[in-house]
Amino acid sequence: MSNFFKSCALTTLLFFPLTASWAEISEEQAEAAIKTRQGLLKVVGYYFGPLVGMARGQLEFDGELASSNAEKISQLVQMIPDVFKLDTRENGISSGALDSVWTNTNDFAQKATISSEAAMALSKAASEGKSSFLQALGAAGSSCKGCHEEYRKPQ
Ligand code: HEC
Repeated sequence: MSNFFKSCALTTLLFFPLTASWAEISEEQAEAAIKTRQGLLKVVGYYFGPLVGMARGQLEFDGELASSNAEKISQLVQMIPDVFKLDTRENGISSGALDSVWTNTNDFAQKATISSEAAMALSKAASEGKSSFLQALGAAGSSCKGCHEEYRKPQ
C-alpha cells in the first residue's frame, strides 16, 4: 500500500470512533490528526493566497477565480471543527493549536461558521467586481484572524 492510502486508512480509523470518549489516544493517532487538520488549513491557505495577491496588485484581479476560490474556502473552513475533534492536548506533540480549541469548542465552531459565511459573502462580492471584492476581503481576512488570535499559537 502506498503511504497515501495508508494514511487515508489511518485517518478513517482515527475519525471513526470520535463520538466515543476514548481515554487515551496513541501517538500515531495524535500525529495523524494533527497532520490532517494542518493539511486542511494548508489547503485553505492555498486558495486564500491568490486573493491576497490580487488585493495587493501582485496578481491581476480575476473575478471568476476569486469567486471560485472564496467559495472553496467557505466549504473548507466549515470542516475545521470536524478535523479538530480529536483532543491532542495530552500527547506532547507540538502543533500550532492552543489548548483553548478543546476547552471552548462551541466558540471555536462558531468562529468557523462566521469564517465560512464571510468567505461565501466574498465569493458573491468577487463576482460583482473588484471594488466589492476588496471590501469583502477585509471581513474574510478578519474572520481568519479572529480565530487565530484565540486558538492558534502566535507565529
Ligand atoms: C475556527 C478557527 C479557525 C479559522 C476560522 C481559521 N483558522 Fe487557520 N488555523 C487555526 C488553527 C487552530 C491553526 C493551527 C493548527 C495546528 O497547527 O494544529 C490554524 C493554522 C492555519 C495555517 C497553518 C497550517 C499549517 O500547519 O501549515 C494556515 C495557513 C491557516 N490557518 C490559514 C487560515 C486562513 C487563510 C483562514 C481564513 C480563510 C483560516 N486559517 C481560518 C484555526 C482557524
